[in-house]
Amino acid sequence: MENDSKSNYLSGILRPERRERRHLIDILQDIQAAEGYLSRAAMLEVSKFLDMPGSTVWGVATFYNQFRFTPPGRKPVKVCLGTACHLAGGQLVLEATARELAIEIGGTTEDREFSLERVACIGCCALAPVLTIGEEVHPRMTPPAVEEAFVNIKAAAPGAPGTESQP
Ligand code: FES
Repeated sequence: MENDSKSNYLSGILRPERRERRHLIDILQDIQAAEGYLSRAAMLEVSKFLDMPGSTVWGVATFYNQFRFTPPGRKPVKVCLGTACHLAGGQLVLEATARELAIEIGGTTEDREFSLERVACIGCCALAPVLTIGEEVHPRMTPPAVEEAFVNIKAAAPGAPGTESQP
């Protein structure tokens, strides 16, 4: 069933008129939009479709930091590094968030609750630096505020890093 829906969405993306290498990035973007990341299986399909070595598809995909290769968490965490957020300390917020979740940028926690990515401007520069956790926007973040922001969220997500599981 899952394979059926996967091949359905892929057949909508790997359309005959796109069977040229110049469409590779567009295809990868569409797959990520549909699946949330670029799975190995999907990249192999792209490789066959465009008649390119899998290593070339992988090389192109990893060249761009817009692509992720692990499934996103249920609550994607995004740290803005657009100009306003960057100038207001976004990089420190990003590093604090990575430490808090104990994952790297582009990674997903083991329980698949959170994933972490950096993004460009999300349109609320007056609140810089900004972090989003799922749909929630957290304004004017600092490294200590990152820890605080996760306290309640982790309490509602047993098993997340830093939480104790009840016997
Ligand atoms: S630069 Fe971060 S919201 Fe605009």
